[in-house]
Amino acid sequence: MTDKIFADDILQGKVAFVTGGGTGITGGVARAFARHGAKIAITSRKEENLIAQQQYIEENGGKCFSVAADVRDFDAVQNAIAKTVEHYGRIDIVVNGAAGNFLCAADQLSANGFGTVVDIDTKGTFNVCRASFEALKESKGQILNISATLHYLATPLQIHVSAAKAGVDAITRNLSVEWGRHGIRVNGIAPGPIEDTEGMKRLLPEALKEKITKKIPLGRFGRIADIENAALFLSSDAASYINGVTLVVDGGQWLLGTSLG
Ligand code: HXC
Repeated sequence: MTDKIFADDILQGKVAFVTGGGTGITGGVARAFARHGAKIAITSRKEENLIAQQQYIEENGGKCFSVAADVRDFDAVQNAIAKTVEHYGRIDIVVNGAAGNFLCAADQLSANGFGTVVDIDTKGTFNVCRASFEALKESKGQILNISATLHYLATPLQIHVSAAKAGVDAITRNLSVEWGRHGIRVNGIAPGPIEDTEGMKRLLPEALKEKITKKIPLGRFGRIADIENAALFLSSDAASYINGVTLVVDGGQWLLGTSLG
């Protein structure tokens, strides 16, 4: 796959605030946005991930600002948004990528384990959307929520994440309707299994990879670049009439009901 799919300047002048923007899928999205002209603000709980990512983006000619925050903490999120507006003067794109995940059977999962993932994924997404509303209203900006396909059917050992991502999809649809009136577009991306990510390392033993690959209609795992391209498209003016959609990027995998094998 070529990395010259989009013009270099499709996000020129835009400011993107990316949660979980230090590593993984949204780390890739942050780098792709920087390569296409956006100024980036990244946030994550882990300062070391932010430092490495900021250094990478800046060494490659991009602009990056980072501020540590836990998306579960509304005050910390508000502070991160305020600091970003202070630094760049605006926010045009918000990407909600911070997520928690582990495998656990429902009859073993504690209430706090369930709640922790819902707090990070669902409440965290709401917190960031809510805290950035005024900035997005001002810029007529947009939100991109990273979801999953786990809850379309049922995925054993993933009740917490399935419930949390179903909530994220509800937030996408609701806000697209409520905030579309303010010129804010709200969309999502639902990745299938994406190789070389922390999520896949945690969820999928290497031994199962070949078996699962055979069950993916397009015959391969997703790559971070596949999600980057979907995010670039949805965040660009090419998608200026797309609102309230969660775009599935999974090679057709969920249609066969093979979520994690
Ligand atoms: C059972 C677990 C657990 C595990 C934590 N808990 N890990 N229960 N199995 N492996 C329980 C704890 O026992 C505790 O409940 C509660 O969860 C909170 O745990 P803490 O460690 O105190 O929480 P915290 O440090 O805040 O967060 C833990 C975490 C987080 C949610 C596990 O560190 C995390 O998820 N990190 C992974 C980040 C990541 O990989 N993100 C990418 C997601 S990929 P008790 O009752 O004991 O107090 C993704 C893609 C999905 O989302 C799509 C795939 C196809």
